[in-house]
Amino acid sequence: MKYENIYIEEEKQWATITINRPTKLNALNKRTIEELHVAFKELDEDPEIKVIIITGTGEKAFVAGADISEFAHFSVKEGRQLSAMGQKNLFNLIENLTTPVIAAINGFALGGGLELALACHFRVASSNARMGLPEVSLGVIPGYGGTQRLPQLIGKGRAMELIMTASMIDADKAFAYGLVNHVVSPEELLPLCEKLASRISNNSTVAIKHAIKAVNAGFKYDADGYAVEIDAFGHCFGTDDFKEGTTAFLEKRKADFPGS
Ligand code: COA
Repeated sequence: MKYENIYIEEEKQWATITINRPTKLNALNKRTIEELHVAFKELDEDPEIKVIIITGTGEKAFVAGADISEFAHFSVKEGRQLSAMGQKNLFNLIENLTTPVIAAINGFALGGGLELALACHFRVASSNARMGLPEVSLGVIPGYGGTQRLPQLIGKGRAMELIMTASMIDADKAFAYGLVNHVVSPEELLPLCEKLASRISNNSTVAIKHAIKAVNAGFKYDADGYAVEIDAFGHCFGTDDFKEGTTAFLEKRKADFPGS
């Protein structure tokens, strides 16, 4: 697929996806969601890519939401479809990806933009970032998983207040809430994410894949997280990465994981 609204930069072990619609503050239109779907799937299937970082172009916005101009005239049926397809094709896809995904929040992360960050495995923000779910100010609610993932991350009361007031919080408050793991200057944002990506890349990709699955299971109403953990833990014992990791430890050397 030829990308129009995103671009991808690949390093040795990780890739950075940049959403590139600066004149619309990187708002997520249909085309961008389709491109992100393809990009995430392709990068996840690439064994060389061990971490994916997602960010927005420019210094102003990560993503300022779903593209309001596209859905302003939607019917009930179309609204439902927009939410269902978005959740399936992008937001749930990212959450359940086997490759770790870091959101580098470089400015406004509003509505669908915050929901995109919430679907990632963890988040890092620059000091100028502003986050919120302003949907009720438009007469709608968050539809890309925000009503579920925000309370999971920051607690029900804080999420209710943010959603009901439609207000934005700054990076320091997001850090205090546990919404983002680190706050750094705009210049330090991508270098820190790359440092974290490098650290993750040294570890077993197979074990990380199982860890993501087990952690996610704890947040699903129809899954027993402890049972998923037992299965995933057991599965690791049959992998080459486990043999290499334990052997390297016993031989007092750094592990060189084959990724299988
Ligand atoms: N959908 C579509 N277009 C958007 C957008 C969105 N979610 N967010 C910003 N844009 C567009 C604006 O319409 C404007 O386009 P134009 O120049 O063609 O008129 C451009 O991006 C710049 O935005 P602007 O509002 O002029 O910038 P600002 O600095 O004054 O305000 C925001 C920044 C983020 C506060 C403001 O753009 C905003 O409130 N955006 C919508 C946020 C939102 O409600 N998101 C949830 C959607 S469900």
